[in-house]
Amino acid sequence: MAFDASYVKSVIRALPDWPEPGVTFRDITPIFKDPKALRTVTDGFIERYVTSDITHIASIDARGFLVSAILAHQLNKPLILVRKKGKLPGDTISQSYDLEYGSATLEVQTDACGPGDKVLIFDDLIATGGTLIAACSLVQRLGGSVSEVASIIDLPGLQGSQRLQDSGVSVFSLIAY
Ligand code: PRP
Ligand code: ADE
Repeated sequence: MAFDASYVKSVIRALPDWPEPGVTFRDITPIFKDPKALRTVTDGFIERYVTSDITHIASIDARGFLVSAILAHQLNKPLILVRKKGKLPGDTISQSYDLEYGSATLEVQTDACGPGDKVLIFDDLIATGGTLIAACSLVQRLGGSVSEVASIIDLPGLQGSQRLQDSGVSVFSLIAY
């Protein structure tokens, strides 16, 4: 079925000047209160990836986890958790980055993926692209290849999806503001 972007957009909330002046925060929490919206979003991704050759889905702490766990279940793929610093036990590698309102460090366990793995990296939203560029670097440092990065929302005005494409990564988003 054709993806109903206007329905999903009608559910997402815009909060001006949050968490700081000048940022328009795109709040996805209403998607999870609306089963039709959640199904529309997850079906949009399942339709794209059901015939792909991805071997793993990597998801970003925290909002990325919500949809990627559903995709991993529906597509029957292993799920990699890319977490904020200090949350993952065992051997990890880390990568620091800047985002629209601050900076952070992501980590992944060293046995998460390796050579030959074709990884789809999923997050809820692309703003500056810093988060997903850091996640791509983690997957590539482990020897995996990034098949595509995917998000529900792209904010093209912040140039993140362009930065990702310029670094040679394929990008897919369901909606843009
Ligand atoms: C948000 C969002 C993306 C990231 C996008 O996460 O969920 O991960 O910012 O911004 P970027 O493209 O500029 O890197 P946030 O770090 O606020 O964490 P959260 O998911 O825990 O709310
Ligand atoms: N993460 C980074 N920028 C964001 C924004 N404008 N809305 C929601 N999440 C974000």
